[in-house]
Amino acid sequence: MSRLKIFLIILTFTSVFAKKDVIFQCDEAMIYDENKNFCTISNFVAESDQTVHIVHNSNKNNVKYMKCYDSKARYIPYKLFENFPNLQSLDISNSYIEDISRNSFHSADNLLYLNMSLNRIKSLGPSAFKGAAKTLKIELAANEISEISPNAFNTLDDMDKLVLSRNLIRELDKSVFVENVNLNHIHLDNNLIEEINPDLFSYCKHLRIVDLSNNRLKKLQPNTFELNFVLEGLFLSGNLLETFNLTNLYSLNKLNLDNNRLTSLVLIAVKNVRANNNEIENITVRNFENFETMNLAHNHISNLTNITKLSNLVSLDLSSNKVGPVIGLSTFSNLRNLRELRLRNTSLSSITFGMFSKQTKLTTFDISFNGLRELNLDMLAPYMTTVKQFFIDGNSLTEIKGRTTFFQAFPYLYSIGLSKNKFNCTYLHHIITTPFLSPNVELYIEPIDSDIEKTHIRDITCEHEDQKDDYDDEILIPKKPMKVKMTKEKELSSQEREMFIAKIQGQQELLSSHLLWMKITLITIAVALICFVVFKSMDYKRRLWRSVPHQNHVGDSSIVFRSTTTVNTTGEA
Ligand SMILES: *[C@@H]1O[C@H](CO)[C@@H](O)[C@H](O)[C@H]1NC(C)=O
Ligand SMILES: *[C@@H]1O[C@H](CO)[C@@H](O)[C@H](O)[C@H]1NC(C)=O
Ligand SMILES: *[C@@H]1O[C@H](CO)[C@@H](O)[C@H](O)[C@H]1NC(C)=O
Ligand SMILES: *[C@@H]1O[C@H](CO)[C@@H](O)[C@H](O)[C@H]1NC(C)=O
Ligand SMILES: *[C@@H]1O[C@H](CO)[C@@H](O)[C@H](O)[C@H]1NC(C)=O
Ligand SMILES: *[C@@H]1O[C@H](CO)[C@@H](O)[C@H](O)[C@H]1NC(C)=O
Ligand SMILES: *[C@@H]1O[C@H](CO)[C@@H](O)[C@H](O)[C@H]1NC(C)=O
Repeated sequence: MSRLKIFLIILTFTSVFAKKDVIFQCDEAMIYDENKNFCTISNFVAESDQTVHIVHNSNKNNVKYMKCYDSKARYIPYKLFENFPNLQSLDISNSYIEDISRNSFHSADNLLYLNMSLNRIKSLGPSAFKGAAKTLKIELAANEISEISPNAFNTLDDMDKLVLSRNLIRELDKSVFVENVNLNHIHLDNNLIEEINPDLFSYCKHLRIVDLSNNRLKKLQPNTFELNFVLEGLFLSGNLLETFNLTNLYSLNKLNLDNNRLTSLVLIAVKNVRANNNEIENITVRNFENFETMNLAHNHISNLTNITKLSNLVSLDLSSNKVGPVIGLSTFSNLRNLRELRLRNTSLSSITFGMFSKQTKLTTFDISFNGLRELNLDMLAPYMTTVKQFFIDGNSLTEIKGRTTFFQAFPYLYSIGLSKNKFNCTYLHHIITTPFLSPNVELYIEPIDSDIEKTHIRDITCEHEDQKDDYDDEILIPKKPMKVKMTKEKELSSQEREMFIAKIQGQQELLSSHLLWMKITLITIAVALICFVVFKSMDYKRRLWRSVPHQNHVGDSSIVFRSTTTVNTTGEA
């Protein structure tokens, strides 16, 4: 019986607690401070059926910034904005918000920024933000939004940034952004969007950045973005696009189409294009002079006719396309502004005189993994004097032909890739040491893909000859697993290079001066030690001579000395 009673008491208590109203209070609430314009809320927990009272907030009229920490709010507390009428920034992210109820933003007259990311919102109803008329930025990333009412963003005339990344959005009504005429940035990445209505952004005349990466788009109608005259960045990587033919994009600075299924590409005028990892065969371009970078690695491009018309191209990556085995002598003759040319794994079988004679501004040149059997540096040396990074890894080279050394050909070189070729160890040693190569040049090394032990010098594998060689002990057998020494992205200007060399020289000078000092110190110590020993031995002899007639006195003093120490230690103990 008594057990039942206790149980009933506990039950009544818990139910009383469950229904008890909760108080919403700033952590700073009790300290009245005119200048305090922020409010943090910690550990606020409200169940959905509890009434929230916003009380005891002495500085509530001053609060402009509010942020919730470790809270489980479930919804935006009723009358929050009535209580904090001057709130400009509300971060109620990561707070278990499940729903935006109809009048949540009723009095949010001054709200400019709202962060509701990392919550559990599933849908956005009509005029969800009504009242927040001045709001500029709304973040709703990482919720579970799958439904968005066509009127959800009504009344948000000033909104310039909307973040809906990482939700479950499948479709967007074509009129959903009709009133958001000032929208500048929209992030819709990492959703499940399959289609974009061509009119979706027609009213957003100021749209500059659109992120639709990692969705399920199969195609875009040619007139999508037709009226977005200031569009600068369009991010479409990680979709299922098979064609891209937006003939009205004139202002685009950045276009990212990586990881789609494109077989052809139609580009009107884009400054920087990325379309790696597709199946692109044909590229149609207009306004050739508007293109600056083209990243087209891992595609099916074999005909370069259209690409080589882009005379202002600064960077071209055609890696892992079947460009070779032979390319015409004048293929690249129009690309005189190239700084970066990547032709890794492009099936090139040979390089001939004159092929790269117009690339006089090149700083990065990559012809690795092409099965090249021969390379004559005399073919590159007269033109490519500005090259800083040079990669010929993964070819079948046994020697570097011509009369030019790396040092002569590329005076500004700071990184070279020679790994995975067929150089014998004697020869490799020759070409990676002075005078062939400056000791300041970093050796880039391709990661090894097997555990088979191989001879190597400074981590570059080489063919080992039978004869005993005399290139000191730099060759190590067996091969230890190696790491890639540097990233390819690193670039050094000639000025930086000079500074780098100066720094190294400075360090060497510093080191030798340190060594000198160490030597001097050592000598000084040694001299001092010898003097000390000599002096001591003389002193000892003198004492010995003196002590003979005063033996007792010496003995006494030693006894006195010992007794005082004993007294001292016992006194302390
Ligand atoms: C919004 O909230 C999320 C989650 O707490 C956070 O990662 C993000 O940085 C916030 N945004 C800004 C601009 O502070
Ligand atoms: C691209 O679209 C235009 C019409 O906007 C059309 O005339 C052209 O044939 C299309 N090109 C390709 C390659 O699909
Ligand atoms: C590429 O263009 C050629 C003609 O230049 C045509 O035969 C071929 O079908 C086109 N391929 C694609 C994928 O459009
Ligand atoms: C080159 O561009 C033309 C249109 O100007 C197009 O028809 C052709 O397919 C393109 N060829 C390649 C190989 O990209
Ligand atoms: C390369 O493409 C151009 C333009 O599409 C075409 O005129 C030319 O015949 C093609 N070359 C080869 C070898 O297919
Ligand atoms: C080299 O390029 C071919 C296409 O020409 C591609 O199939 C292959 O995967 C590429 N290899 C590497 C290691 O990227
Ligand atoms: C090593 O390679 C160089 C260049 O190919 C060649 O001249 C030399 O004879 C080779 N040495 C041995 C011992 O095979």
